[in-house]
Amino acid sequence: MTEIRATNITWHEGHVNRDEREALLKQKGVLIWMTGLSGSGKSTIAYTLEHALVQRGHLAYVLDGDNIRHGLNKNLGFSAEDREENIRRIGEVAKLFADTGVITITAFISPYRKDRDNNRELLGDGEFVEVYCKAPLEVCEDRDPKGLYKKARAGEIKGFTGIDDPYEEPLKPELVIETDKLSPQEAAVALIEMLESQGKIEKLKD
Ligand code: ADX
Repeated sequence: MTEIRATNITWHEGHVNRDEREALLKQKGVLIWMTGLSGSGKSTIAYTLEHALVQRGHLAYVLDGDNIRHGLNKNLGFSAEDREENIRRIGEVAKLFADTGVITITAFISPYRKDRDNNRELLGDGEFVEVYCKAPLEVCEDRDPKGLYKKARAGEIKGFTGIDDPYEEPLKPELVIETDKLSPQEAAVALIEMLESQGKIEKLKD
């Protein structure tokens, strides 16, 4: 639980509202929350989607676990408590991004259901789209793009997700992408179709 120390603070409204920003961008702000094991393809799909959206004239931005841990969250490790704080901060940052009207895509393992559900609640209905990047552990371990599974198996990293730390699968994600069956481009197409059907972006006229 986060201890609240900020007192005597007042919320200020600006002169420009979200509808105006979204009209300017011709899209609706939303948070696409990718979750899955390390090596499941979250970041690859997130950056492929971001690129595809920008090519279509939309403003999209990726917040990626490894990148955010270089800066904003460099003081957090991988205990359950630190992962909770990692995911909480990202939820708050992503809420601000979505409020700007940007299609915001996050790529964090986010192994705990409760932490993801807290962000779903924070963003509200229709604003939080949970996408499960699903791949068997053996596939992720075989890919091992950063050589971390090898280190974890050798005991050089303790508490590595999927090896000696838990990953709680989403129970009702908006979308499941089986990343051992779909290419990143195919996954991006599925996500764009989802955004169209949710009315976040307009369908392209042919
Ligand atoms: S999360 O669990 O708090 O959501 P996050 O997505 O920010 O994790 O960071 C995961 C990345 O940190 C992995 O892709 C990997 O590169 C690196 N990492 C380092 N140590 C661990 C660990 N013990 N468990 C999982 N990932 C780790």
